[in-house]
Amino acid sequence: MEEITRKDFLHSTVNTLIGLWVAATAVLSSYAGLRYLWPTEKTAGGPGGNKASFPLTELSEGDMKKVLIGGKPAGIIRLNKDLYALSLICTHLGCIVSWHPEEKRLICPCHGGVYDINGAVLGGPPPRPLPSYEVRLRGDTVVVG
Ligand code: FES
Repeated sequence: MEEITRKDFLHSTVNTLIGLWVAATAVLSSYAGLRYLWPTEKTAGGPGGNKASFPLTELSEGDMKKVLIGGKPAGIIRLNKDLYALSLICTHLGCIVSWHPEEKRLICPCHGGVYDINGAVLGGPPPRPLPSYEVRLRGDTVVVG
């Protein structure tokens, strides 16, 4: 019968712990990878999943106010007494677009994507319009989503 030395026992224990750590890491990575590849409405925070509201006095004519809808940035624009609510995530590669009031355009700083006030693509590489959100006035409060 083979005798187990103290050194062999330590090697065996360390190897077992490393194996468990590798297995746990693989399982957790796979789970995170699947959630990334197949996000659910809950994990992706889809448009309209949440609401935001703020006093109309916080949004001047021609300006944009940033809010989070479903955990994602959205812009509420007040122009000619109308309100527009758009996702600020560029549909090309996901950079955050910014509002340029002098041009009445949303422009992506990454590759020059240009969108109009309704989110339609006017130029650059974006393949789709910016998603829009329902926006309305309830008294003096702007309600989005
Ligand atoms: S990420 Fe916006 S144009 Fe490329």
